This record gives sequence, structure tokens and C-alpha cells, in this order.
Amino acid sequence: MHSFVQYTPTEIVFGKDAERETGRLAKKWGAARVLIVYGGGSAVRSGLLDTIKMELDEEGIGYDELAGVQPNPRVSLAREGVRKAIALEADLILAVGGGSVIDTAKAVAIGAANPETDIWEFWEGRKKVERSMPVGTVLTISAAGSEMSDSSVLTNEETGRKCGVSSDLNRPKFAVMNPELTYSLPKYQLACGIVDIYMHTLERYFTQVGGNRMTDEIAEGLLRTVIEFGQKAYADQTDYEAMSEIMWCGSLSHNGITGLGRPRDFANHKLGHELSAMFDETHGATLSAVWGSWARYVYRLDVPRFAHYGKAVWGMEYEEEEEAALAAIEKTEEFFRSLQVATCIGELKTGVLPDETLKKLAQNATKGNTIRLGSFKELDAHDAYEIYKAAN
Ligand code: NZQ
Ligand code: ZN
Repeated sequence: MHSFVQYTPTEIVFGKDAERETGRLAKKWGAARVLIVYGGGSAVRSGLLDTIKMELDEEGIGYDELAGVQPNPRVSLAREGVRKAIALEADLILAVGGGSVIDTAKAVAIGAANPETDIWEFWEGRKKVERSMPVGTVLTISAAGSEMSDSSVLTNEETGRKCGVSSDLNRPKFAVMNPELTYSLPKYQLACGIVDIYMHTLERYFTQVGGNRMTDEIAEGLLRTVIEFGQKAYADQTDYEAMSEIMWCGSLSHNGITGLGRPRDFANHKLGHELSAMFDETHGATLSAVWGSWARYVYRLDVPRFAHYGKAVWGMEYEEEEEAALAAIEKTEEFFRSLQVATCIGELKTGVLPDETLKKLAQNATKGNTIRLGSFKELDAHDAYEIYKAAN
């Protein structure tokens, strides 16, 4: 096997009523004052926020709130959270929500631990994250995997940039995961979440480094599980078994375990982030919109790998490898279509884009053609433009 480091410090409390453990977990981490971060109101409407406050009250823990995190979370709200966390002298940042809320909580934690630095400097890569504060999470959507991941993705609404910071200091101390909390998700968010979960493993699966059999088996098992239970969850989002399988897949797909011993690719994420930055598109849909075009652009670099994917994940048998590889790509897109998400840019809310916009997106993604995206094939601005064009 190739060498790797795997660090998963997050304590998981999974199952029905798991949110009732939040006070105990906050206490365990020594919290006396907590900044609770949440989104646009789903946690208020469901009564979850009240439950969490009661949990903290019972442990004698004080708190303040940062409300109003939007999908594709903005740096300005995170800055406001930093001010609140400092004023409160918070010792734990508690996210109650999905990836956007958790990523904001992570940003607040970094900002409060580094009050002399504007947080965007970390996201722009001008400063390295060397300290942060503890973050806890109560997850309400299975998607981004931020509850165990090392990253946080923010959008700067002034510059129109969406970018992420990765650091082990971003990994939450605990994650409370009750699949029943996800029953109230809008169907589109559920579907986009399933795509995101699938893509976090797929972006680790196609790289130039092979040979780690166990890594492949874990990845393929996860992908098969997402296909089976993703469709069941989409058909009935009160199906506990399906919603719980998806929820756990969401965490495992992005905590590193499905890509051990090989480089990540994540070119599709970079291409997708530009569509979200420019048009505020839902993250998962940007990935399904570009993946097929990316795959057809690069598959010739390793036809057997794509053919193997089709066999191991989709159970497809073909004599010709090329035919098998193309069928596997088509099958993946069919899966996305079964969830009624976009498989091209034209199906996103932005619609078909003019050529100049595609060129601009490609320039933005590659920082003016100064960086390359991905590792399966390192994409320059021209490659990125060709993929956007094929996906348009
Ligand atoms: O704001 P509220 O009212 O809570 O509504 C949210 C939001 O509108 C709603 N929602 C969440 N749980 C709900 C619910 N509605 C009803 N019932 C519930 N139980 O769902 C909408 C989407 O929420 P969001 O947090 O944006 O979803 P998701 O978890 O998909 O997060 C997406 C963000 O995470 C980033 C994405 O780029 C995007 O900004 N990512 C973060 C990663 C990470 N930190 O590791 C990795 C990912 O690749 C991704 O980039
Ligand atoms: Zn993602």
C-alpha cells in the first residue's frame, strides 16, 4: 500500500434522539459559553434549536446565537460571528445545520482564535491556519461531510470568489447525527446532498495512483450504498434505514477514508465552485452538471480504471474496455438524472451560458491559468474551458 495519514478526531453520536447528547458533549469539551450558529430558519421551525438551547441550559452552559447562514455561506456573516464569539468569550462554536452552517462555524472558530487577522486571508491562502477553537456540530442534512472533514468553504461576496481552507484544525470535536432530523429537507436539497456524497468519493477514486486495494473496496462499497439508499431516500425521505445509510455515507465519503494512499482529484469541485460563486448555484448540482463532461474529457488516460468502476460499482460487464468505460459514465449520469439534478449547465438555474462566461469561469477556476486543477489529469484554463463548453 502507499503511505498515508488518516486523522479522524471527531466523536460521532449517531441515531434517533442523538441531539439530546449535545449538552453532555459540549460539557465534555469544557464549554462554559457557546456560540450557536444556524441557517435561514429550518432549525427554528423544526424546534431543534429550542432542544439544543434546553440541552445547554441543563448543563449550565451560556450561549449567544449567529443566525442567517445562507447556502454558499458568505464571509461577511462569518466575520460577524467572529465579533460575537469574541464578545461572548465563547469556548465552543456549535453548528446546528448543514455544510454551510458548519463551514461558517469553522470560520468563526479560526477568526476568534486569530483576532489580529481578517479571516479571508486564510481562505485566500495568504496565511496558514495554526490555531483554531473547538467546533461541535448537530447535523441536519447529509451532503457536504463537513461534520468530519478538514475543510471549510466560504464565498466572498465582494470579490465573487468561493474557496476553501483545509486544515486538521478544522475537524470538529463532535458530530451529533440523527437521521430523523433530515426528514424535513426540501427534495432538491436531499438530491443535491446525495450527489455531493457520491462525488466526494468519486473525486478520490479517479487518480493516477492505483494499488490500494482496501481503499478501492471501501470506496466502491460506499458508492454502491449511496446508489441503493440514495434512490430509496429520494423515493421516501422518511425511510429511516435509507436516510441513516445516506447520512453515514456523507461523513465517511469526505473524512478521507475513501481515498487513503492516493492524491485527491477534486477538479470537478473547483469547476463547480466557480458556478456557485458566479450564480449562487447549489453545490451538489454544479458537480452533476460538469462530471460527465469531465469524465469524457479525461477517461482515455485510464480506460481500464473507468471500465473497472463500471464493473465494481454498477455491475456492468462488457468485452470492450472502451465501451465499458463510456457505459459507466453514462450510467452515472443516469443515476444523477434519477435524482432530478442537472447533468449539464443548461439544466442549472442559470441556463446555457455564453462563450465569454465559460472562458471567464475557466480563468477564475485556474486563477488566470496560473494553477492546475485535479490530479487524474491536471487541467489548465483551456482544459477547464473545454469541459465547461461540453457541459454547457
Ligand atoms: O438555512 P436553513 O433554513 O437551515 O435551510 C437549509 C439550506 O437552505 C436547508 N436545510 C438544511 N437542513 C434542513 C434544511 N431544510 C429543512 N430541513 C432540514 N433538516 O438546506 C439548504 C442547504 O443547506 P447547506 O448547509 O447549504 O447544505 P450542504 O450541507 O449541502 O452544504 C453546502 C455547502 O458546503 C460546502 C459547499 O460548497 C456549500 O457551500 N462544502 C463544504 C465541504 C466541507 N466543508 O468539507 C465540502 C463540500 O465539497 C462542499 O464544498
Ligand atoms: Zn462537495
